[in-house]
Amino acid sequence: MKGLILAGGMGSRLRPFTNYLNKHLLPVGRYPMIYWPILKLKEAGIKEIFIVTNQQHLSSFIELLGTGDDLAVHIQYGIQKNEGGGIADALMTARNFIKNDRFIAILGDNIFEDSLTGYIEQFHQQENGARVLLKTVPDPKRYGVPQLDEERKRIMSIIEKPLNPPSSYCVTGIYMYDPTVFALIETLQPSERNELEITDVNNLYIEKNQLQYDILQGWWLDAGTHESLLQANLYLLNKSDGI
Ligand code: G1P
Repeated sequence: MKGLILAGGMGSRLRPFTNYLNKHLLPVGRYPMIYWPILKLKEAGIKEIFIVTNQQHLSSFIELLGTGDDLAVHIQYGIQKNEGGGIADALMTARNFIKNDRFIAILGDNIFEDSLTGYIEQFHQQENGARVLLKTVPDPKRYGVPQLDEERKRIMSIIEKPLNPPSSYCVTGIYMYDPTVFALIETLQPSERNELEITDVNNLYIEKNQLQYDILQGWWLDAGTHESLLQANLYLLNKSDGI
């Protein structure tokens, strides 16, 4: 199992900081934001990590993390050529790194409490397919929202940023995939916001009856706005997670 952290994007909701700095290098507690997903992967025993970022900020990541020695992990980097191309497009950057393995991909601004170990174990029980982690949120319209059949523990469909959310869950930015994901991404068309949507990828897995889910138990947030970044700082101010 390999780990992928997506740390590109424009960070437009965090301007003006993101005019000169990558969002994932902003402070969260005592460390840059990107440390937290790295530590979650390491805690779950995943030390082969690929970070996808943009050309402009690659040198800052290398300056901060290098090959990962200080955090006792192995880090490689990839550049997303189409900067606003979407999450599914960013995954394609890692195709040669992933090869024929399964992997977990984390959006670098998703900050959360739970250990990933149990969820990854569940994914290993699956014969194939994908697994997503859900969380109830007060404002589902901002996210990908699943329509659930809770009795059968099935996701019926996922709608990206719905006007009328079919549930109060969001699909968090923590995704587990088998290597068939790359062939699925190749079939996608850009969405209305001109991105290759991860929600479209997950819906393709639903069509194949191959998408499973768990619900995150602890707190979770997407630290991509000023308010949620402050919240993440408050949660993690006194944490050092063994660094
Ligand atoms: C992205 C995904 C969305 C998901 C969210 C989690 O949204 O498209 O499905 O719920 O991450 O953080 P975006 O950050 O592109 O608005």
